[in-house]
Amino acid sequence: MTMLEIIEKKKLGKELTKEEITFFAKAAAEKTVPDYQLSALLMAIRLNGMSYQETTDLTLAMRDSGDIADLSGIPGIKVDKHSTGGVGDTTTLVLAPLVAACGAPVAKMSGRGLGHTGGTLDKLESIPGMKVTLSEEDFIRQVKEIGVAVIGQTGHLAPADKTLYALRDVTSTVDSLPLIVSSILSKKLAAGSDAIVLDVKNGSGAIMHTEEESIMLARTMVEVGTLAGKPVVAVVTGMDQPLGTHVGNALEVKEAIDILSGRAGGDLLEVSLTLGGYMLKLAGKAESPEAGKAMMAEAVRSGAGLKKLKEMIAAQGGDSAVCDDVTRLPQAKVQRSVTCGKAGYVQKMDTMALGLAAQAMGAGRLKVDDELDYSVGFVLNVRIGDRVEEDTPLCTLHARSEEDAVKAEAAVRAAITIGEEACGRAPDFYAIVTKDGIWKLGATE
Ligand code: URA
Ligand code: CA
Repeated sequence: MTMLEIIEKKKLGKELTKEEITFFAKAAAEKTVPDYQLSALLMAIRLNGMSYQETTDLTLAMRDSGDIADLSGIPGIKVDKHSTGGVGDTTTLVLAPLVAACGAPVAKMSGRGLGHTGGTLDKLESIPGMKVTLSEEDFIRQVKEIGVAVIGQTGHLAPADKTLYALRDVTSTVDSLPLIVSSILSKKLAAGSDAIVLDVKNGSGAIMHTEEESIMLARTMVEVGTLAGKPVVAVVTGMDQPLGTHVGNALEVKEAIDILSGRAGGDLLEVSLTLGGYMLKLAGKAESPEAGKAMMAEAVRSGAGLKKLKEMIAAQGGDSAVCDDVTRLPQAKVQRSVTCGKAGYVQKMDTMALGLAAQAMGAGRLKVDDELDYSVGFVLNVRIGDRVEEDTPLCTLHARSEEDAVKAEAAVRAAITIGEEACGRAPDFYAIVTKDGIWKLGATE
């Protein structure tokens, strides 16, 4: 078997065998085939697609290209959660402590920010002293002791994805369903959980911009997860605007603490409770996702979730007093409120542009080794559908300098469309996809 034969076959739109796919994944992990041939096959896959079986074979071959975490030392059903990436999307910080407080173990490996999207690890590191690198042994011990740990990847998980993701980024092959699904699921399967809840984002800040595409992505994830032998549920949620009101690392930690303290609510809380409800159902702790959601809400009300977050921060070396006093989090030098400047209705947001605005302020990396400024970002005061007046606050900027604030103000204004026509609210949920079918929600709320 040669790489050239495999490329030729996919170029002609034929189905690849498991052996051919395994050869490709192994070659990517071990870098035994030149980048130009890997890239050529990536483009052939992007153009001609893959069947569910091929995508499953690719997912498993990528999973098996490195280590697989062994979580069997943790009693109970371990349910992982993964988001396809969004802006102001802090669901992990809200739901991980709540799910743990409801009795299901959460052993979560998270990632860093990528492009316009934020990353849970970066947010956690904005808490003074917080460590996100633990040995597999310490990770498992912490979950056994307090029920929750959120860390970076341990070991050498899915190295084939590292090579392929870097090539996709520079060969215009990121937007391929089989490549997205195998990339995400290979890492999640290698992370060792028993079941997975996927949060597939849809809208202007998501990897997929239309409802149809996002539902197809969710459906492919569920089909492939099922063929790979893991229960997977996908919830297609709205990314037509940032999910939370806060965008930026320390600001998003603050919002999560405000929510767990019962001081804040909104779409971030709603989506977190729903995803957590599915996690509790899959973990065998709730009769139904709805019952799980009610348990989650009760853990907010009782303060059990906030207490769990405190325990997790303390266990990972962080200043857990931030949970009682959010001003202990990094604070930006310049903080300034900006008004809408125009009366009308908030019709639309370019969520990717908002994410890029936060990135440019220092909340995200432009190069892999860039240092982040944890304090910067912005807090939005408006949601799609709101009626606003000229002097209604639009957002509060948290910037490193006056100059940065001026640039960010222009970028945020340009990303938010205020017009004369009234419009509805953007949906929080588009669909639920399980192995039993697709339930379209999409109701404006
Ligand atoms: N996130 C990933 O890890 N991989 C993709 O392909 C897309 C989003
Ligand atoms: Ca809503």
